[in-house]
Formats: sequence, structure tokens, C-alpha cells
Amino acid sequence: MTTFSVCLTGTKYGCGGGGCGACTVMISTYEPASKKIRHYSANACLLPICSLYGAAVTTVEGVGSTKTRIHPVQERLAKCHGSQCGFCTPGMVMSIYTLLRNHPEPTSEQMIAALAGKYCHFLVCRCESICCQRKANGKCCLDQEDDLFDNKEKVSTSLFSTDEFQPLDPTQELIFPPELMRMAENQPKRTLVFHGERVTWISPVSLDELLDLKIAHPKAPLVVGNTGVGPDVKFRGVFHPVLIAPARIPDLNVLKYTNDGLTLGAACSLSLVKDILTNAIAEFPEEKTRVFCAVLQQLRTLGGEQIRNVASFGGNIISRKSTSDLNPVLAASNCMLNLASRGQKRQIPMSDIFADGVGNNTITPEEVLVSIHIPYSRKGEYVAAFRQAPRRENALPITNAGMRVLFEEGTDIIKDLSIFYGGAVLTTVCAKQTCQTLTGRHWNEQMLDEACRLVLKEIALPGSTDGENVDYKKTLMVSFFYRFFLEVSQSLKTMDPCHFPGIPMEYGSVLKDFKTRMPQSIQIYQDVGPSQSPQDPVGRPVMHQSGIKHATGEAVYIDDLPPVDGELFLAAVTSSRAHAKIVSIDTSEALKGAGVFDVITVHDVPAANEFYFSDDPEIIFARNEVICVGQIVCAVVADSDVHAKQAAAKVKIEYEMLEPVILTIEEAIKHNSFFEPKRKLEQGNVEEAFETVDNIIEGEICIGGQKHFYMETQSMLAVPKGEDEEMDLYVSTQHPAIIQEMVAASLGVPANRIMCHVKRVGGAFGGKILRTGLLASVAAVAANKTSRAVRLILSREDDMVITGGRHPFIAKYKVGFMNDGRITAVDAKYYVNGGCTPDESVLVAEVSLLKIDNAYKIPNLRCWAYVCKTNLPSNTAFRGFGFPQSGLVTETWITDVADKTGLSPEKIREINMYKKNEQTHFKQKLDPQNLIRCWNECMEKSAYCSRRTAINEFNKQNYWKKRGIAIVPMKFPFGVSTPYLSQAAALVHIYTDGSVLLTHGGIEMGQGIHTKMIQVASRELNIPMSSIHFCETSTTTVPNACASIGSAGTDVNGMAVKDACQTLLKRLQPIIKKNPTGTWNDWIKEAFKQSVSLSATGYFRGYNEYMDWEKGEGHPFTYFIFGAACSEVEINCLTGDHKNLRTDIIMDIGCSINPAVDIGQIEGAFVQGIGLYTMEELKYSSEGVLYTRGPDQYKIPAVCDIPEQFSVSLLSSSQNPYAIYASKGIGEAGFFLGCSVFFALRDAVTSVRNERGLKKTFALNSPLTAEQIRANCADAFTEMAVSPWSDLYKSQQFRPL
Ligand SMILES: Cc1cc2nc3c(=O)[nH]c(=O)nc-3n(C[C@H](O)[C@H](O)[C@H](O)COP(=O)(O)OP(=O)(O)OC[C@H]3O[C@@H](n4cnc5c(N)ncnc54)[C@H](O)[C@@H]3O)c2cc1C
Ligand code: FES
Repeated sequence: MTTFSVCLTGTKYGCGGGGCGACTVMISTYEPASKKIRHYSANACLLPICSLYGAAVTTVEGVGSTKTRIHPVQERLAKCHGSQCGFCTPGMVMSIYTLLRNHPEPTSEQMIAALAGKYCHFLVCRCESICCQRKANGKCCLDQEDDLFDNKEKVSTSLFSTDEFQPLDPTQELIFPPELMRMAENQPKRTLVFHGERVTWISPVSLDELLDLKIAHPKAPLVVGNTGVGPDVKFRGVFHPVLIAPARIPDLNVLKYTNDGLTLGAACSLSLVKDILTNAIAEFPEEKTRVFCAVLQQLRTLGGEQIRNVASFGGNIISRKSTSDLNPVLAASNCMLNLASRGQKRQIPMSDIFADGVGNNTITPEEVLVSIHIPYSRKGEYVAAFRQAPRRENALPITNAGMRVLFEEGTDIIKDLSIFYGGAVLTTVCAKQTCQTLTGRHWNEQMLDEACRLVLKEIALPGSTDGENVDYKKTLMVSFFYRFFLEVSQSLKTMDPCHFPGIPMEYGSVLKDFKTRMPQSIQIYQDVGPSQSPQDPVGRPVMHQSGIKHATGEAVYIDDLPPVDGELFLAAVTSSRAHAKIVSIDTSEALKGAGVFDVITVHDVPAANEFYFSDDPEIIFARNEVICVGQIVCAVVADSDVHAKQAAAKVKIEYEMLEPVILTIEEAIKHNSFFEPKRKLEQGNVEEAFETVDNIIEGEICIGGQKHFYMETQSMLAVPKGEDEEMDLYVSTQHPAIIQEMVAASLGVPANRIMCHVKRVGGAFGGKILRTGLLASVAAVAANKTSRAVRLILSREDDMVITGGRHPFIAKYKVGFMNDGRITAVDAKYYVNGGCTPDESVLVAEVSLLKIDNAYKIPNLRCWAYVCKTNLPSNTAFRGFGFPQSGLVTETWITDVADKTGLSPEKIREINMYKKNEQTHFKQKLDPQNLIRCWNECMEKSAYCSRRTAINEFNKQNYWKKRGIAIVPMKFPFGVSTPYLSQAAALVHIYTDGSVLLTHGGIEMGQGIHTKMIQVASRELNIPMSSIHFCETSTTTVPNACASIGSAGTDVNGMAVKDACQTLLKRLQPIIKKNPTGTWNDWIKEAFKQSVSLSATGYFRGYNEYMDWEKGEGHPFTYFIFGAACSEVEINCLTGDHKNLRTDIIMDIGCSINPAVDIGQIEGAFVQGIGLYTMEELKYSSEGVLYTRGPDQYKIPAVCDIPEQFSVSLLSSSQNPYAIYASKGIGEAGFFLGCSVFFALRDAVTSVRNERGLKKTFALNSPLTAEQIRANCADAFTEMAVSPWSDLYKSQQFRPL
């Protein structure tokens, strides 16, 4: 639907595959029989336009706008600071809006369901405020939640005032269009046929007609929700000339209760099935509804709500995907399928369609699935369903299962047993022989043991081809059976406590799954002083300047820019080889494609194709050789995005493989493949110190890479202006000046011909600098050649394949320490996977060395960093810039020392923490007072000690569930080590009506920099923020601006804005003095009359930072941000799943200019850190091809991953003399604190291992996924299933580090 150009740009395109929710719209349909209107949310990117005949579509524009009236949902999302970069905000609005249309007073479960799977780079859920409008008694929907925080902690000033909120105006709600209602009532349903350019869509209304169509078009798929067919067509090149849409056929929508169960039409949506089952469970006795409960269990987490609203029951079954969550439980429960073909109807058991192991037989091409019969459960029959996915919600399962047992009456003798698994092989698979063998056996431990062994023998898992770990799947298979065993044993006891002993008390908790609850968050900050003028906005929680525009969809991103006359679209053709010679490029077929204008190659680059920022070049187009998969070889420009992509797929490139192909750090070491220089820092005498210590440990940790996953993919529009070689570039970048420089160099024109404009960026995190410069050059070269405007918007898949990300690390360390926990010597080596070109990898490595100490004084420290040159896409800057990896290594050896000494990790941290004015390992002075304050406050606010005791108690009482807690301190040095890289400029114009136009060199990418700059200008000029406007960042207004990186944007641009404003005020002073009671407008008018210039530039020279790598000393940082975080988690030892229970963060950010924006940054960064350390996993083939190319395979944290209780406090009474208004830069620091979750998980795993007497020292790598947690909670099931796990990461080609 998103391709249907109606110029409503509020609906965003983030992934195209139903995975991100940025494109959410509300669909409304009218049912004449019941006279009811149904509203549901759906992903526009997968909705075929033809399926919407007779439906009303509401996009965010229809909800409210600044031109008319904004909707309370939009207002609350913006004013409660629920939006940062704003790209996904319209999707959030639409999900919540639809929820409220259906449920004016939603329960927290309904709210959680509506937000399930929504991404959390930015939005840490303050959405609870959104529901408050509706309750008559003034209570919030969440009031029923326990108040889990200590009351006396609620000293915070709130970040928003509910008094401001407009009440809902019911007349504002769009009504269902009466003409559609009339149409539904008056027009008899008839067959609809739509003919497109290549595809015909046929929508019959009767079963007979459908069966005829199936005869005529046996290969045509039946499309209901398009969630199966759509992704195949879009991403896997499948083409269907005819599509049959059976959703309007009554037989396929039946709901019928029979004597033995419930029959549901195949076209029923999964949401409808969920509702029906929920009602049935409430209505029927428990004994009859065990199958319903098990199916419902899977439906709760299957996809997100938008997927369930459109995806059909029959579609899920018939797709027979291995990842179907329904098929195993439906098959195990003896569900029946009602099939029909012309002249024939038959019923088959569900299990039959999987009998051949590939799910191919049984149903003929002419047959359709009409309905599904779900039986009632019987007395003595127990059914269960299980799943484990990389993320609890909106993620396809790794493995799932459906199990059913029927006992001989009144006994525990198995009469009938069914076990089905998904995720194991190509389709759902049955452990048939196992079940047969066990029939007649008692339900006891012996049976359990045999069942597990038989299952593992029977279900042979093939070697992994897609990066999935076979051992983990096998472990899950038997662990699920064990869980079933426990559940059934417990039920038997309930039935007959005298005969059946049930299960030990401490096993009980594993029978309850983790549930997502609405996170409760608290933000505490110091309010401004009483003497501050009420008009002065500095220090106040001001809403993001674009917040309302984000929520109404009016905020413009690159793809929202209106088409330029004659504009072309560009699709990149990328290398499919990691290292090869290009033998030939055949573009002939591509050039014949519909709408194709040209193919652009390296030969079209007028000047520089290679950029030398260091010895090795950054490359626009591959010339003779490709050095990674995803490198751009050439590009197609055509009249539409679709035509460009179709033609790009037709370019044939012939390669000759080159040796070596280096993907991993180990391979780079083997081939001595590094970028120079290698770096080293040393203080004290490491060798001597190792001689005198009580203990030495050596260890290694591997830290995987991370994709930026900004919501707006790499996007740019190059518009040649037709004279003097001028070109306008509209780019989603953090660094317009580098774009200008690279484009000018590639075109061979002076920089003054290239104007780069940035209004806002839909997330960047470091990924939109050099990589964007290369892509912008591709677009500019094409625009230059064709003399047309060229738009390049990377698809999510291409973005992930082409661009690099955070650097994978391997760290080897040797640590010397005393028995009392003092660490006196550390020798560490960092190997960093830089990818195929240098980018900023050496800088990243340097920063990782400079920040290696984190919060600790290590008297003798030696560290090296090596940047490996490999055949992966070039890795680049990413929030934290090396510190997230380096800090994790440090905290890992701290924990190892704790293990070895028997002291607690927090004790080791305290003992070694900087305590007094000291020098860092590069001889920079450091005052750690606020570090210690943060630590102590965090200890206290989190009630660490009492919770530690409570957790120990919990762990004693629970065998299969364990809790863990960790508290981690942080010293985050601020600076970029090079003075000229922190210079900044601003330009302020005052117009004669008194309004002010402000610009500066910083880029708005969600961090609220423009809001803060307006706050600065408002204070300096003493005028309201509403009089100041920010339009865009541009190379035409502020030249040579440094990149918005390293948390420095507000610091440096703030100084420049202040400088410009002060210059203007100085000029106005004589006028003000003469007329002190005059107004701002009086003064400005007078100034104009007196010919006083009302425009000024401001400048900040930058910080005096330097680093002498030869001497190993310097002053690379200007100041330090301190913090501490305490996190608590609970793990499920049987699956490795975990839940983030609580996090308390204390952060010293000086005097915050805008606490709402700053706390948002801390929360967002923290959650992104959770992603790096526990979830986000990149998988490659052994040829260097990325598997994880979109949100369906690459999971970033979602709402379900936010800690249930989340508190962020800003350290009070903190001053920073080095930055504007005593504030501190905060964009990155919170990221590292995400590792408190990693160490809390480690703590929980340690508790398991201690209880089971497992080896005390163990190594955990990052991300600490469920797979790793399960492997380290070794037990009889892992032993049965697993080959040695220890070398898991090292041995896996598909996770190159
Ligand atoms: C983002 C996303 C997340 C998902 N997450 C999960 C998940 O967690 N767990 C899970 O199990 N699934 C998941 N799915 C898969 C989803 O549940 C299925 O794609 C969906 O149920 C298929 O239904 P549909 O109506 O969309 O099928 P369509 O795409 O319309 O059709 C799919 C196939 O089914 C056939 N078909 C449909 N109806 C009939 C019929 N009546 N008779 C014969 N053939 C028929 C079609 O011919 C076609 O081949 C996810 C999908 C997406 C896109
Ligand atoms: S763009 Fe539709 S779900 Fe991502």
C-alpha cells in the first residue's frame, strides 16, 4: 500500500517486511449483517491495495494535524517526550489510536499487546500517559499496577504536566465513510478483478467460484493477509502473475461450535482466532479447553498485533513453514483440516500434511483449505505449546513445540502421546516413533529420560546453514519435553494427590512464562533554582522542538521530499563476493528494463573515486576488484524505485575469486592483515607487578558487531541546478561538510558548488558519516551524468548489507591481583575487526585503549590495539565509539577476579575504583568525586544490599528460574582528542518583526540538539523560545561544520550559538539602555532604523585536547561523565530466556539543559546497549554473506525488553566548568550501562552453576543470548543434546568477529 502514491508521507517505510511497525495504519471495515465497524491496525508495507476494496484507511494525517487540531494521542506522545528521531512515531500513534478506537479504556495488557515488538532505540515507554485522557474518575489505566518504587523516591519533578493536555474532542474522530457503508449494504457482493502492470488480482465471493479459479490457476496463491506471500515477492524474487483473494468467501470465515470442538474458517485472522479462543476458554470448563489454551498461548506472542490482525489462520497452517507457531500444537492436538476442490470435500488430520517431512504432499494444487476443526480436550488429556525466539515478542521462533498426552482413565499410563516440533527441520516434524514407543508407559522419570533420548535420536537436525545453532535447538527440544513433563505431573497431582506426587516446590516457577508488563519508569532530576526567570527555558524539560510534527507525521525526512521534475531513482548493484576480481559487467538486460534510464559505473565518476583519509582508500564504485560482499559495483537509474530495483537485479557480474578471503579476526591475524598504526599504551611496570601479585588470571572475550539500525535508512536526493555545476544535496547525514567535500571531489568541482541540506535525520548513531558520503557520491555522480535529480533510498536489506556497523572485538587479557581484591597489573590486547577499508577504525581502537580503565585505577597497565583488515563491509563509528566494547572487557576481568578471590564483583569494583584526584593511564588528571557519588547513590537507590539478599533467597527457592543482579560504575571521558574537530559555528538572524532564525552546524538526529540550541538562544536573547525558529543545517549557512558525534553537539554548538547571541545583544545594548522599558520588538525596529546589523555568526574554537601516542600521554578528554547502573534479571534455565526486571541508573551530567531530552538519551542509549550485550547478533555465511538483513532476522530491543521498573536519576549539584551552562554531553554515555544487564545475567548463571557444582570460571561472550545462557546452565538435557559448547563462538564461521 505504501507504494500507492497519494502524497501522504506520515506513514513511513522502515523495513517493508512487517517487522518494524513504522508503516502502521488503521483499517476500518463495515459488516452489514452485524452493522458493526471493525477497526484494526495493519502494516501498510504488506497490505495489497486491492485487498482494501470497500475499506477505509486512516493514516496518521487523518488522526490530527497542526493545521486543524492535533489528537490527544499525538499530543501526549509528543509532550510526554515519547519521540526522539520521530521516524517511527506515526506508527506508534496509529497503534495506540487504533487501540483507543476499539477500547476507550484499555487494560494494560491491551496496551502492551498494541506496543509489542515496537522498537526501543528511542522510545522508552512513557506511553502510559496516553491512556489517561479517557477515564472519567481521573485515574490512569495503569493505576491498578502496584507501585513498585519506594514512595520517598518520588521527589522527582515530573517531565510533563497533564494539565496542559487537551481533552478528546469526539467530533475530531473520523467517521467511517457513509458511502462505503452504503456500498457494503446495497451492492451485492460480486467477484472483483483488478489488472495491474504484471499481476491480476481476483477476489471471488463463493467457494464454488474459488474452486473453479483454483482449477484455472493451480499455481496462483490464495492471498489473505499477504504476510507470507508478500515477503516472498518482495525479498525473494518470487513472482505470481495471478493472485486469488478468498477473504470474502463466507465458508472461509465460519465460526461453528460442534459436539466435539470448534470449527474456524481458514480466512479468519489470527486476532479473531485469539479473541474466539479467549471467549471459549472463559465459557467452557477447563477440562475441555486445554487445546484452546495451548493455541492461545502461541497466539499471544506470534508476530505483533498488526501481523495478527491481517494474517490468516489458514495461511499460517498452509505455508507449512518450519517457523509456524501454530502447526506443532494444532497437529499434536489432532486438529482436522477441511479441504475442498471442485466436486470434492474431505477432512484430513492436520498431522498428515507433515507426514513426508517436507510438508509437500497431501494437499493438491486444486485444493483449498476451507476451515480448521479444533477439538475439545478430554478428561485425562493434557496439551501444551512452547516456543523460544530471539526476542519474546514479534520474533520468529528458533524452536517451538506442541505436545499432547492422553492417559488411561484414572492412571498415569500413557494411552496416546503426540510430540511435534517446529524450527527443527524444513517443516513441522513429528516424533512419531518416540510417541509409539512410550505408549503404555507410566508418566515418570524413566519415561522422561527415555523420551528425551528417543526424541534426539528420531529428529535428526541437519547441519546448520543459516547460522542457527543445532545444539541449542536440540537442547530446547528436550527441555520443552521436560517442561511438559513437569506441567503434566503437576496436573496429575491436582487430579489425584494421593497417587501422584507432583513436582518439587522449587520447580514450580518454571511453569510460568515471562510476561511483558507495562514498564514503570521514574525520572528524577534537579529542578531549576527559584531565582531563575520563568521565561528562561534552560534546565527545564522542554518538549522536543519537532515532537508534535513527529506525532502528526508532518516532520519531513528525505523520502518525504516532494518529487523533483524528471527525478530518477537509483538502485545499487552490489558485490556478491567477499574478495574477487571483476571479470565483466553485463548491463545489457538491465538497460532493456522498463523505465530504465542508465547504468552508472566507475567510468562515470568525473574525478575522485577513491578517498584517502589514511593509507587505504574509501571507495565509491569498485574498480577492478571487490573487497567485500555489499560493495557497490554500479547503479541503475530509472523512472521509479521498482523499475530501478528490477533492472539492478538483471546486471550480471562475472567474478574471479581472489585469495585470501579474510572474514574473522583470527584469519586476519593469520594473514597479518591490519590497518596501521597499531596502538599501545603503558603505565607503571607491568612485568614487575606480575612478579609480585598473589594471583594471575588470563582470559578472552569475544564481542560481536552491531548494526546501527537507524529507522530512516541511508537516504539522499541529489538535484543538479543546471548552471555553474551547482548541485543541491538533501541527505540524511550527521556530517554535511564531509558529504559536500566528498561529492565535490568525486565530481571534480569546488566545494562552493555543492550545497548540502539536512533538516533532520531519522536516527544515525554514528552510521551516517563516511558511509553516507560514499552513497551521496554515487547519487551525485548519477545526477551529474543524467542531469536529472536522483533519489537514493536504501531498502533496509541493502542498508544492512552495504553498510558496516560497530566493530566486533576479541580481547585477550592477563590480570594480576592480590588476595584482597586489589588489581595491580593488567596486560590486554584488543583485536578489532575493521572490515575492508579504514574508515574510523584506528580512532575507535585508540579510544578503546584510552577508556580501558573505565572507573578503575590500575597502577600497572599495558594495552595494545590492532585493527584487522578483513573482507567485511567497513565498520564505522557507533555510539560510544569503542568504549562499549572496551568497558565490557574491563568489567569482565573485574568479574573474573571476583570469582577467583571469592569476593563479590561490587567489592572488587569498590576496591579498585578511582578514589582521589589521580591520573589516568595516559597521565590526565581526574577528580572521581562524582563517580563515587554516583556509585553510592546507585547502591542506595537500588537498595542493592537488601535485594541481593532477596535474590539469594529467591534462588534457593527456585531451581529452574534464577535471578541475578549487578551494579556497574562508569567513567565516560568526553572529548575527541583533536582540538579542531570540536570547533563549531552558528548563524543568528533577527528579522524586523522580532522573530529569530537560528542555525548552527549540529545535526538533529533525535537527540534534541535544535531544541537545546533554541533554549540557549532564548536564554541569551531573553526572548521566548516561540520567537526562535530553526530551519535546517546547511553548508550554505555554516561552512565546514564538524560532524555531530561523540556527545559533543550541544557542548560545541551551544557555545557558538551563545557567542552569536551575545554579539547581537552587545550591538543592541545601546538601544536597550536608551529605552530600558521597551519591548524586544521596539529594540529590533530601532536597531534596524539605526542600521545595526541584526545578523551575527558565533564561533567556538574547540577544546584543547591532544594525545601523544609516542609518549603515551596527553589530555585527550575535556571532562568526564560519571554514572552507575544496577540491573536485576530473571532467567529461565530451561530455555535461556530472560526478563529484565529492574534497572536503576544514576548519571552525572552536570546541569542538564533539558532533563527530558537528556533522560531520553540515557534511556534510549541504555536500551540500545542491552541490544548489543544481550540480543543483537549478526550472522554471516562462511563466504561473508550477511544473513541477518532485516528486522525479521536481526532483533533489536523492543518494548518487552525494557526493564519492568526503570529509574533514571540525574546526579544533583553537579557542575561542569568546561561546557555550556555547566552541562555535560550525554548522547553516548548511557549505552555502556546496558552491560549491567549482561553482568546481572552472568550473576544468575553463576548462581545456577554454583548450585550444580559446575566449573567456577566460565567465559561469556557478547551478545549474551538465550542460546549462550542455556549452554552455560548445563544440565542433563544439554549433556544429552550438545557437542562441546566451549568453542561455540570461535568455531562459528557465521559470526565473524
Ligand atoms: C513480520 C512477521 C512476523 C511473523 N511472526 C510469526 C510468528 O512469530 N510465528 C508464526 O507462526 N508466524 C509468524 N509469521 C507468519 C505469519 O503468521 C504467516 O505468514 C501468516 O499466518 C500467513 O497468513 P496470510 O493470510 O498472511 O497468508 P498469505 O501470505 O496471504 O498466504 C500464505 C500462503 O498460504 C496459502 N493459503 C492461504 N490461505 C489458504 C487457504 N485457505 N487454502 C489454501 N492455501 C491457502 C497461500 O496460497 C499462500 O501460499 C510472521 C510473519 C511476518 C510477516
Ligand atoms: S515498513 Fe512496514 S513494518 Fe516496517
